[in-house]
Amino acid sequence: MEQQKKRETWHSSLGFILAAAGSAVGLGNIWRFPYITGEHGGGAFVLIYLICVALIGLPVMLCEIALGRHTRRNPVGAFKQLNPATCNLAVLFGVGLIFCGVMMLIMRSFGWGILFTLIGALVTKYRWTVVGVMGVVAGFVILSFYAVVAGWTVGYIGKAISGRLAFDTVDAAAVSFGSFIGNPFLSILCLFVFMALCIAIVCKGVQGGIEKISKLLMPLLFLLLILLIIRGLTLPGAMAGVRYYLRPDFSVISGESILVAVGLAFFSLSLGMGAMITYGSYVSKEQNLFTSSMAIVGLDVLVAFLAGLAVFPAVFALGFAPDSGTGLAFMALPTVFNQMPLGILWAFVFFLLLLVAALTSGISLLEVVTAYWVDERDWTRRNATLVFGGCIFLLGTLCAVSVENWDSIRPVQSLLQTLFARLQPSLFATMETASDWMLALGGLMTALFVGWIWGIRHAVDEIRHGSQNFADVHLWSVLAGLKDDPSHNSEVHVYTIASVWGVFVRFICPVAVVIAFLYTIGWLDLGEDASPEPPPEPAAELAPP
Ligand code: TRP
Repeated sequence: MEQQKKRETWHSSLGFILAAAGSAVGLGNIWRFPYITGEHGGGAFVLIYLICVALIGLPVMLCEIALGRHTRRNPVGAFKQLNPATCNLAVLFGVGLIFCGVMMLIMRSFGWGILFTLIGALVTKYRWTVVGVMGVVAGFVILSFYAVVAGWTVGYIGKAISGRLAFDTVDAAAVSFGSFIGNPFLSILCLFVFMALCIAIVCKGVQGGIEKISKLLMPLLFLLLILLIIRGLTLPGAMAGVRYYLRPDFSVISGESILVAVGLAFFSLSLGMGAMITYGSYVSKEQNLFTSSMAIVGLDVLVAFLAGLAVFPAVFALGFAPDSGTGLAFMALPTVFNQMPLGILWAFVFFLLLLVAALTSGISLLEVVTAYWVDERDWTRRNATLVFGGCIFLLGTLCAVSVENWDSIRPVQSLLQTLFARLQPSLFATMETASDWMLALGGLMTALFVGWIWGIRHAVDEIRHGSQNFADVHLWSVLAGLKDDPSHNSEVHVYTIASVWGVFVRFICPVAVVIAFLYTIGWLDLGEDASPEPPPEPAAELAPP
């Protein structure tokens, strides 16, 4: 195969873990997680989120990394290489999609009709490779709105330095935020700065760019976070926030919260679009994939948890509402900081923290797109990052402008309106919703592929390299510390971490994601009417299209 060109690898296993954790830890943890937790009632949501991460996130993470290391390719190449010559499941799926698409066209729902028919045709022809293609497309979609928010943090760092974050009320902060994101010149400039940083890092390659910067930025991120937590917890009245955050109140949990948790788990762990396949493709055979996955997932959860601990005590101590939504980071927090001694400093630390987190995630998204063009199309890394980073920047400018000035880009607006028969709130919001769907679908497909097509046996053979405990020692023996006991272990090959993982990948993860889907599109009702009043707001995440 032409693929035998020497592939770059991570310099060290810690380097890989930090880079992958850098991808996972991002705006999802520090910006989305606290505000979504705030909207869904605090502690109980945190618990549900943890369960989703353990049941779905960890198994799928291991699937992706194993796929990547085995094929040593980008997501498209990985699925292409393992694509079976014929696959009834894929054909069935493809034909089903075409059927749905045609029905939608007949019902004059053109956007969905075209989308379903097109994807159905592709699935019928290319089978599982389509999952990889969808991943690369998702890279464009996600980074185009992600970079917009990351750009705002760049702008807010500037504001903090120049002392323009001194708000006395949340209303004043809201006005300022509105005029900032409504200023096309400023938001595009900030977006440009962020994309330029991403392009510069990814251009430098895996070891010299991504790994090096992750090793520098991840410790910095922890340092900044710890600083903020200490500050927040030492404010008088902070304990109310801690209590709100950590004490589960199950009465506010609805079926919708569970879905949001599933979507957030995929997003926050960078799963479902091949980012971990790509990063996994640079991992050496000696590395222990199982413990690495646990470390990545653990770090991601830890940062999300700590971010909540940094945010809620401060918000409560100064008497703000914890459920102020998206604006929590950009409106409530600057106001909170302003009332503390040395407020400007804390605001600066917080937005720097956000930027650091966003940067290590942004580069992983760009790397997926880059790896595809480098591996499959023989582009040079430099050209690929410049050209496609540039395309993402252009798409991002449209997203950025659409947030406050949606009417000023009529052509895009009416295109979306014709396709989806309803006015979208903004291109930004459309991209965000689309990404949730793509990730959940991609994660589902990855689990099905590994579980049923590539096969758990082959996957385990891959993971076994560098991880003896995974498949060759009885789980009880591992847990009991008897793993080196020579007398019985390797013969008792029934109950291992690998067999538990296999059951998860084949059954539990797909079923859980499908239930989440059915619920979202309204085919399944998890006894919603049992709750006295409907949830105040339709889910921003995973909302039905
Ligand atoms: N996980 C990142 C966050 O929490 C975002 C992200 C980076 C991502 N790469 C991804 C999300 C790949 C999905 C897929 O902010």
